[in-house]
Amino acid sequence: MKVLITGGAGFIGYHTAKVLLARGDEVVLVDNFNDYYDVALKRKRAALAVADGAVLYECDISDYGALEQVFVQEKVDKVFNLAAQAGVRYSIENPFAYVQSNVLGFVNILEICRRQGVKDIVFASSSSVYGENEKVPFEEDDRVDHPISIYAATKKSNEEMAYTYHHLYGLNCTGLRFFTVYGPWGRPDMALFKFAQRMKAGEKIPVFNAGKMSRDFTFISDIVQGVVASLDRPFGYEVFNLGRGEVIQLTSYIEALEKHMGFAADKDLLPMQPGDVPITSADVSKAKNMLGYDPKVSVDEGVRLFVEWFNEYYGV
Ligand SMILES: NC(=O)c1ccc[n+]([C@@H]2O[C@H](COP(=O)([O-])OP(=O)(O)OC[C@H]3O[C@@H](n4cnc5c(N)ncnc54)[C@H](O)[C@@H]3O)[C@@H](O)[C@H]2O)c1
Repeated sequence: MKVLITGGAGFIGYHTAKVLLARGDEVVLVDNFNDYYDVALKRKRAALAVADGAVLYECDISDYGALEQVFVQEKVDKVFNLAAQAGVRYSIENPFAYVQSNVLGFVNILEICRRQGVKDIVFASSSSVYGENEKVPFEEDDRVDHPISIYAATKKSNEEMAYTYHHLYGLNCTGLRFFTVYGPWGRPDMALFKFAQRMKAGEKIPVFNAGKMSRDFTFISDIVQGVVASLDRPFGYEVFNLGRGEVIQLTSYIEALEKHMGFAADKDLLPMQPGDVPITSADVSKAKNMLGYDPKVSVDEGVRLFVEWFNEYYGV
């Protein structure tokens, strides 16, 4: 199959492209290479995917005309939409960046798919839609109508708009609620990468809520397995949690990083940040039953693999 991956120079997009290309699928990448984090890292990921056979377009999904041209040119079978402004904390300061990419950009994707006859769409939602849900683990049927950040609100809106396009035009839309994804070629704005960089520079690491936050940390290869299964199995409209299904305190995550970096971090204990949630916890039984999703990588092993990559990438 021929798959268009938007946000294809990003962390999850790059890893998905690599797996699809390795099994013989054709891959088209779209990315605007914005400077929210180190653009050189995005360029390197994209260059690796292109070397493996991907076709790359530098294009913003909020530019309807430019995006439509890519569809007309490439005649793809399926779309995996990852292009979005990510990050909870940044969304407090920069709401319009989220509306531009995550709302307008996503409607462009749906509308172009409808007009160009592309029926199957998989798109990135987020565990953040659960907000301050107190019932753990989080299940797909839980109420998710109290998002506590603009980022979460835009992801929730994606699920609703996708449902509408499914209902009106019969598009197959699968939304994936990713739970804190980490691993090699990861995102420098996320905790693990940021902590490793600060530790390497001999700087303090900022630990919000004094580390008393729990997350369902999910290794990238497990996420990609769930993504590929979703691309292979279109449903009418479904939403799935993709997490590891195991909750770890931030303090234990840092301990794993310290173990594999080989030294202790100097910690700056800070208060909880607005928009942050105290816990995320995924019930992944729906994804297991319907997608054959099977997360395998423990946090200890995943952090080890990240540190191995980090040291090689930065020549440590
Ligand atoms: N990594 C996680 O833990 C996580 C968790 C939940 C949800 N998600 C979602 O998964 C998706 C991918 O996340 P990621 O970690 O790979 O992030 P990422 O930032 O590495 O990848 C997103 C890519 O999209 C590109 N992009 C952004 N806006 C664009 C636009 N308007 N047009 C074209 N390209 C654009 C960026 O340049 C970037 O390369 C995002 O939608 C994110 O919200 C990620």
